[in-house]
Amino acid sequence: ERRTAEPYKIKTVEPLAMLDENERKEALEKAGYNTFLLNSQDVYIDLLTDSGTNAMSDKQWSALMMGDEAYAGSKSWYKLEEAVREIYGYKYVLPTHQGRGAENLLSQMKVNPGDYVPGNMYFTTTRAHQEMNGGTFVDVIIDEAHDSQVELDFKGNVDLDKLKRLIDEVGADKIPYVCLAVTVNMAGGQPVSMKNMRDVYELCQQHGIDVMYDATRCVENAYFIQEREAGYADVPVKKILKEMFSYSDGCTMSGKKDCLVNIGGFLAMNDEDLYTRSRELVVVYEGMPTYGGMAGRDMEAMAQGIYESVDDNYIKHRIHQVRYLGDQLIEAGIPIVRPVGGHAIFLDAREFLPHLEQEQFASQALAAALYLDSGVRSMERGIVSAGRNKETGEHNRPKLEMVRLTIPRRVYTDNHMDVVADSVISLYEKRDQIQGLKMDYEPPTLRFFNARFSPL
Ligand code: F0G
Repeated sequence: ERRTAEPYKIKTVEPLAMLDENERKEALEKAGYNTFLLNSQDVYIDLLTDSGTNAMSDKQWSALMMGDEAYAGSKSWYKLEEAVREIYGYKYVLPTHQGRGAENLLSQMKVNPGDYVPGNMYFTTTRAHQEMNGGTFVDVIIDEAHDSQVELDFKGNVDLDKLKRLIDEVGADKIPYVCLAVTVNMAGGQPVSMKNMRDVYELCQQHGIDVMYDATRCVENAYFIQEREAGYADVPVKKILKEMFSYSDGCTMSGKKDCLVNIGGFLAMNDEDLYTRSRELVVVYEGMPTYGGMAGRDMEAMAQGIYESVDDNYIKHRIHQVRYLGDQLIEAGIPIVRPVGGHAIFLDAREFLPHLEQEQFASQALAAALYLDSGVRSMERGIVSAGRNKETGEHNRPKLEMVRLTIPRRVYTDNHMDVVADSVISLYEKRDQIQGLKMDYEPPTLRFFNARFSPL
């Protein structure tokens, strides 16, 4: 195969900090061994998240100047609305400051105490909003998604039998909607097949249940369909995306990922009544229905980003850059979630550090060790992120105990991926020296953001 390179050239550069080992040790201690609490000035390669960390294009930067900062009726909003309608295909759109703003509106409108919200694995903020409104999240993803080593093309799929069983058990009227994430972040960025989307939608329609997508990384999902699902090899990503959304009633969107911007989001839907209610609620939490917490310039950049995100060359390199890192790690025998997903490499901390118990926060310890080794910042996605059961107060114990190396879009080159691979590999060679952690401070909700740790 011929080698390929980044489908962009660099016009502006941002120098990176390179601390020595002692400085990194000091920074890590100050941060309570929590990579969320590091100063970004102390980070060399920042793989904490792909959220809001995208590089904008020259066209997006110039679009900023076109921002209409009118409080009401901003023309930048109408541009964004048009982009969402054209590319996603929904009738009605409301802007929000980011994805969780849309999740808040949706959960408040649709989730009532005693309801069940099925989803293909949870996401932290999504589930938090469902629970705050009295709902119970039910995981209906296929079993294989919880096994880091099973190689499947569409490991984010819903298990239709699980969904049917839930409908039989609790009744369709207790299920306000199915939340379908495309792709599934916590499973490793795994995609959902077009067939599965179609089947879920059909089943839900039979029972009068809405299907709401978490569209956060939908373009990445569309690329996997093009790559893997029969009949789509020659279909442009843009067209695949449109078909995906035709099997849903609406979506929440964190624009900070696949819309190629640093802030923003939206709630979209086809139902007019829901839209009317959303317009009433959005003014309480986000702002006017023509800005929703975004500046006019943010909306301009997002509209442009939405069009750029469906460029086949862009999305191909995006997915392949993540895979380029993953393949190096697989080659070196490092345990990672297979197959490599859309936005990140997930190190399997249970396999990486078999000498640590789940309660010794293996993933957190591994993320800390990686920072210490090279200044690469990653994120815990294991028992700390999973929080506690709200009834029993016990830790939720996710089967997957992981460290996420999340690749920002259009930010790093493949050379940076080489540096990351070297660091992970050298850490693996001395893995028996990595100690567990204890939690010294635990916030009551979404504890992973602010928790503090120290070595055992
Ligand atoms: N849904 C998914 C699948 C996400 O990954 C995120 C954010 C959200 C919703 C919430 O969107 O941050 O704009 O409010 N994920 C980030 C991450 C934080 O690092 O995975 P938001």
